[in-house]
Amino acid sequence: MLDLNGKNALVTGIANNRSIAWGIAQQLHKAGANLGITYLPDEKGKMEKKVGELVKPLNPSFCLPCNVQDDKQVKSTFKVIGDRWSRVDILIHCLAFAQKQDLSGDFSKTPRSGFNIALEVSTYSLIQLADAAGSLMSKGGSIVTLSYLGSIRAVPNYNIMGVAKAALEASVRYLAAEMGTKNIRVNAVSAGPIRTLASSAVGGILDMIHHVEEVAPLQRTVNQLEVGNATAFLCSDLASGITGQVIYVDAGYQIMGM
Ligand SMILES: NC(=O)c1ccc[n+]([C@@H]2O[C@H](COP(=O)([O-])OP(=O)(O)OC[C@H]3O[C@@H](n4cnc5c(N)ncnc54)[C@H](O)[C@@H]3O)[C@@H](O)[C@H]2O)c1
Repeated sequence: MLDLNGKNALVTGIANNRSIAWGIAQQLHKAGANLGITYLPDEKGKMEKKVGELVKPLNPSFCLPCNVQDDKQVKSTFKVIGDRWSRVDILIHCLAFAQKQDLSGDFSKTPRSGFNIALEVSTYSLIQLADAAGSLMSKGGSIVTLSYLGSIRAVPNYNIMGVAKAALEASVRYLAAEMGTKNIRVNAVSAGPIRTLASSAVGGILDMIHHVEEVAPLQRTVNQLEVGNATAFLCSDLASGITGQVIYVDAGYQIMGM
């Protein structure tokens, strides 16, 4: 029943084969979606090659640079997307950034610059991309972003990213309230801890994973493909009545008191 045939899905945030966005891209492809990929470029063009090679088996329509801190690049990338695709149906926002030094130690010592960059890249980018992709969603659509429990609980070392994720989840609700009139649904998947490039910057990520393995009802954490499956569901007509929600894909950890 899960059928994404004929849907154009734009996936952001693939850095390597551990990326949650990679797990999502694979499951969207499996469900029949036609993929378009954007990645964070670097000066030497390494990411273009790396991401391009990784996604090749999924036969994407394009693989374009899109640094969300570069308004000009975002604009030109979406111009190309608008030219290549008659419309966008799905946007996967799967990116975040905080300075490593702001992901451990005293939260009260977070500098203004660390606050600004974490919120700009991890939170404002959802608003920015929802606007850009939303204007191409001529037949309605589905937007999914990735969050984490640190948005509603004080998780050791998550610090400024917890604030960014709280603002991200609030943004999901405001975007959903606005874009519902165009039949665009906006949801977040709150994933359990997974070893990735981004999570390796969070102090004690392995301890977090071990804790989840001990406490979560399913006695384990989740993997990228499980997040991909829930995301594919949210992007499909099976979830046509769901918007503005934060769906936990965390092996049940969030329900536990101790
Ligand atoms: N790994 C976890 O435990 C976990 C748990 C819950 C939620 N998440 C969230 O999942 C999302 C994906 O993270 P991940 O764990 O797969 O790590 P990842 O490092 O594979 O992905 C992060 C992505 O953000 C991109 N990015 C960073 N700055 C950017 C910019 N300026 N412009 C465009 N892209 C930029 C990176 O290139 C990378 O592709 C993030 O929002 C993260 O907070 C991760």
